[in-house]
Formats: sequence, C-alpha cells, structure tokens
Amino acid sequence: MIKIHNLPEVYSKIHLPSKIAMAVTQKPDGKYNLITLEWFMRTSIDPPMFAISVGHSRFSHECLMEVRYFNLVFPSKNQKILLSLAGSQSGRDIDKFVAGNVQHFSGKLHKLPILKDSVACFECEVVTQVNSGDHTIFVGEVKYSWLNEEEELYYYSQK
Ligand SMILES: Cc1cc2nc3c(=O)[nH]c(=O)nc-3n(C[C@H](O)[C@H](O)[C@H](O)COP(=O)(O)O)c2cc1C
Repeated sequence: MIKIHNLPEVYSKIHLPSKIAMAVTQKPDGKYNLITLEWFMRTSIDPPMFAISVGHSRFSHECLMEVRYFNLVFPSKNQKILLSLAGSQSGRDIDKFVAGNVQHFSGKLHKLPILKDSVACFECEVVTQVNSGDHTIFVGEVKYSWLNEEEELYYYSQK
C-alpha cells in the first residue's frame, strides 16, 4: 500500500541508478572548473536546450553568473574517479583539471574544454535562468554536440 513518508526516505528509494553528468565552466581568472551534476534535463528540441540546477553555494554558480557558457559532459566508465573529485572538491580550492589530470582540447563555441575520455559533450550558451530554492536552473542552448563512440556511458549507482 502506498503511504506518506518523509521526502529523503522516499527519494532514497527511487533515485538510483541515475544518469550523471559534469558541467565545465570558466572561472573568473580564465581557467576552467568542473562540477558533478545529477540535476539536469533536456528542455527543448528546437532550439535544443539543456537545463542544469546548480546550488547557490557552488563555485560553479559564481562562474556561471559571470561567464554565460557551460559544456555539459556525459562521462564514460573511465571517468568515475574524476566524477567523484568534481563532486567533492570546490574549484575555489583546487584546479580540478590539474588534480584530475583531465585530457582535453578546446571546444568551438566559447573554447571551453571538451573532455577526451567522455562519451558526449554539449557546448551550451546560457539563455535564461530560474531561481529554484537554494539552486539556480541555468538553461543553455546547445550550439555544438560531440560524441565519442569508443567510450561507454557511466551510470551512477551505490556500487
Ligand atoms: C553524485 C553527485 C551529484 C551532484 N549533483 C549536483 C547537482 O545536481 N547540483 C549541484 O549544485 N551540486 C551537485 N553535486 C555537488 C557538487 O558537485 C559539489 O558540491 C562540487 O564540489 C561543487 O564544486 P564547485 O564548488 O567547484 O562548483 C553533486 C555531487 C555528487 C557527488
């Protein structure tokens, strides 16, 4: 029988396994940052758009408020360690590209990095944003889409 429980209890039963992503942003000093994201979705077919939800306290939030571009990265199974680094350390304190030895090259739109070992990468320009409690939803229009058919997509689970 379906019954009322508190939200964390209910959510813990339904949210895994999930698709996981990272967003590349540009720091005010011109270097790049990475954040692990579970809260993202496709929001438009034409023009193609993705939305990402970024906590107000994250350094990535600061970056997105200044530089209105992000690359949405879908990681491969080989990027599990990088995902956990990007999701546990702040770009305020470390350079995640250096710490994670990230292999990358320049994208076409705003020259944000494309991660060589990822499965897919969407270069987006922020076109609008919505405040959502303690997060901001940044909506990005996809300008270029990259695909690496040699890598396998990583799904986030407890294992
Ligand atoms: C599995 C996982 C999913 C996460 N999803 C989100 C998310 O959707 N939005 C968000 O703001 N933070 C999310 N985080 C937390 C950030 O990735 C984390 O706070 C990160 O260190 C922020 O980095 P920054 O300060 O360099 O932006 C997630 C962390 C993990 C481990």
